[in-house]
Amino acid sequence: MKILVIGSGGRESAIVYAIKKSKKVTDVYCAPGNGGTADTAKNVNIEQDDVEGLLSFALENKIDLTVVGPEVPLSMGIADEFNKAGLKIFGPNKKASLLESSKKYAKDFFKRNSIKTVDYASFTNFVDAADFVKQKSHPVVIKVDGLAAGKGVFISNGFEQSKDILDSVFNEKIFGKSGETVIIEDFIDGFELSYMVITDGISYKPLITGMDYKKIYDGDTGENTGGMGAITPNPHISKTLTDKINETIIVPTLKGLKNEGIDYKGVLYAGIIIKNDEIYVLEFNVRFGDPETQAVLVRLKSDIIDLFMSVVNENLKDCELVFDDNKSICLVLSSEGYPKKYKTGYEISFNGIEDISAEYKYEYHIFHAGTKKIGGKYYTNGGRVMNICVNGKTPEIVDIAYDIAKKINFENKYYRKDIGKIYARY
Ligand code: GLY
Repeated sequence: MKILVIGSGGRESAIVYAIKKSKKVTDVYCAPGNGGTADTAKNVNIEQDDVEGLLSFALENKIDLTVVGPEVPLSMGIADEFNKAGLKIFGPNKKASLLESSKKYAKDFFKRNSIKTVDYASFTNFVDAADFVKQKSHPVVIKVDGLAAGKGVFISNGFEQSKDILDSVFNEKIFGKSGETVIIEDFIDGFELSYMVITDGISYKPLITGMDYKKIYDGDTGENTGGMGAITPNPHISKTLTDKINETIIVPTLKGLKNEGIDYKGVLYAGIIIKNDEIYVLEFNVRFGDPETQAVLVRLKSDIIDLFMSVVNENLKDCELVFDDNKSICLVLSSEGYPKKYKTGYEISFNGIEDISAEYKYEYHIFHAGTKKIGGKYYTNGGRVMNICVNGKTPEIVDIAYDIAKKINFENKYYRKDIGKIYARY
């Protein structure tokens, strides 16, 4: 089979890795890909938002299955276009993708379908939003409706701060169209977690649980990022809890989608908060998380192509989804300054990496993210540069990841020093 993966991050590097393990696959293309997929797949110079270009490529090259990593092409309706052209694609259609691309749509969907979410109100102008927030006790959470690459969520501690945020969104329009509608949510000080399932719209299968390290600094402090690391399993999530999440969030969501005539095929990723044993859904993503997916896929034992095809063909319930019973870690090496301003273009060196396989007790994977390959050398090309994943039975996986992190070097390298350290307690 010929497979096309869309995206350019660590998530897509890991998807390519998992796809290449399938005996059914002859060719893997990645559009636009990164410095790592230049080696592991055939990079195609088409951007993720060029739906027409991607469609032409898939038709011309007789692609058997396309797998979409990021939310942008999904929100643009890439699945609808591919389906119309008779091509198989893993990822939800435009209507279903509204669950991520419009926070108001998602919140209204939760309400209509009696799925517990945090109380909210939505606004389309500064005056009404400011009036509303004046009456509210703080903190409150202010979210822009549209896609904002993880930057559109603010926790505000007082009216003046809320007014400033609303001013920059409505009047300065710093998020453009994505900020035309704003959601104001009650702030809940609870335990946050994320939970991913695969669904063909009829049945669903949960992935192993992961824990994402969202903040830039150790101890979960500083700004939110796309994720600075991940571990599996999530030591805070029990079987009782996942059963409850399935029952209160996943099943009613799939039922709601069906009742509303929305065909959902792909990954459903729920952002959840728990307070006093009550489970609230905060938001949905309609795609694999990054970097959680890297930590999940290194533990996948089943054939990922069988899984993707069972979703496309609506027979997921007959598909086996098996993971090993290890633990895994994904440590992100980033460019200093991320998630704000950072410099790129620095050469990446891998001192001694070629010789380390024998050195470590457990299997490791180096997945490129924001990198590019020029003339046989690798350069930084993004905020999150490289992912180091280790899969094994004991907390030693964490030491191995950190040892490898010292051997991959580039100017302005930054990484958190506490990813997976929680395993020392388990
Ligand atoms: N790691 C969070 C996300 O993928 O949205």
